Amino acid sequence: MSSRGSWSSKIGFILAGAGSAVGLGAIWRFPYMTGENGGAVFVLIYLACCFLIGYPVMLAELSLGRHSGKNPVGMFRQLASGGNLLWKAVGGLCVTSGLVIFAWYSVIAGWVVGYLFKTLEGTFNTTLSPAVIDDIFANFVRNPLLVMLLHALIIGATAFVLTGGVKGGIEMLSKWLMPLLFFLLVILAIRSVTLDGAMEGIRFYLYPDLSKITGIVVLKAMGQALFSLSLGMGTMITYGSYLSKKENIPSSAMWVTIFAVGVSLLAGFVILPAVAALGGSFTEGPDLIFKVIPSIFSLMPGGYFFGVGFFLLLIIAALTSTVSIMEVPVAYFVDERKWPRKRAVLLVTLIAWLIGTPAALSQGASSFLTDLPGISSSFFDVISTLFGDISLSIGAFFIALFIAWKWDLSLAVEEMRHEGKFEIEKAWRFCIKFVSPVIILVIFLFTLWSNFLS
Ligand code: PHE
Repeated sequence: MSSRGSWSSKIGFILAGAGSAVGLGAIWRFPYMTGENGGAVFVLIYLACCFLIGYPVMLAELSLGRHSGKNPVGMFRQLASGGNLLWKAVGGLCVTSGLVIFAWYSVIAGWVVGYLFKTLEGTFNTTLSPAVIDDIFANFVRNPLLVMLLHALIIGATAFVLTGGVKGGIEMLSKWLMPLLFFLLVILAIRSVTLDGAMEGIRFYLYPDLSKITGIVVLKAMGQALFSLSLGMGTMITYGSYLSKKENIPSSAMWVTIFAVGVSLLAGFVILPAVAALGGSFTEGPDLIFKVIPSIFSLMPGGYFFGVGFFLLLIIAALTSTVSIMEVPVAYFVDERKWPRKRAVLLVTLIAWLIGTPAALSQGASSFLTDLPGISSSFFDVISTLFGDISLSIGAFFIALFIAWKWDLSLAVEEMRHEGKFEIEKAWRFCIKFVSPVIILVIFLFTLWSNFLS
């Protein structure tokens, strides 16, 4: 295990785990998904999924990872004792999700870099009308060379961090900057909820309209819960493999969950009230924060500095997540194929570039990719739903089944004990055996029934 590295301390792991969890998922994806999927009902289902599926599965992933000391594929091979096809496939799905999510996630991180430069140039110094802000965005994503370059920059930077090894690379980045980002979000939220006309957005965000519940809404809320907690693709299995035997898994995981959920909820308070106040549309989609955030800055004193600080910190938050996503396929090649780390990083970078480039071009630069014939969705939306919401839900389902029914639940409980105690043992056993997998299954069936069969 020592050749693979490990976390230097408990706080090191919590920060790295929170660094993985808190990123674009909370700040960019959660607000626009909430906007697209009915507001407060989405938030409620998201919260329920975080605690009934997310937290129990996080405990499962961390203990499977620590027990085996392996990446997801190696973990299944070792703990399922040999070549069972199903578990091989689940391990393979984890690695594939990692590759594809890394590819499209980096596109958005690239946009953030682009917006950092725009802010630095002073583009948002004066109050701009929503129409102008829309134009700025449209011209930006329509520039094929620029979006491809920024995407390549992010995968390159992630590769660079990863070749530095686990400790030096991941931990250092997470340590000081996340509290600062949180503080900035609080200031932004205060500005946003005090804008004229913010009330409608607050109502949309907090008062559930039950008539908005559909299969897709529920499926996406579950997907978002897993996405924002970095679950269902083995990130936490891989991170767990670097965790020392002394750590308290239930409490570390609870902190990571609280950070990720807290930042998501806060981001909703930044974005949705401002959308209403600025007369925008809740269902804007992936562009949402890039249209709202600059407007908020242009409406506050010192907006330039807040803007630069915000985009800078968001890039760091995104990088601590991309690093954790890329780590899954890289650890697979290093552990299972015995490749040198550099070669693994190079191959994953290349694949992410190949998949990510069409995703980067699918927001306006290529009309074919932006509006795929027959499904009227962009390539980006398709892969983010398939390898974001759906693949993570399937992954989480099988990870829960594996630990509860295939492996040895008492060994898992042993991993969870800290100084002889695991207070929520009964509740966790019940959740991971029944509640989490059954909810995932029911949500899948409900979506199938309500969207395709009826
Ligand atoms: N949770 C990360 C975020 O919200 C994204 C992520 C997903 C990371 C899956 C790892 C695994 O930005």
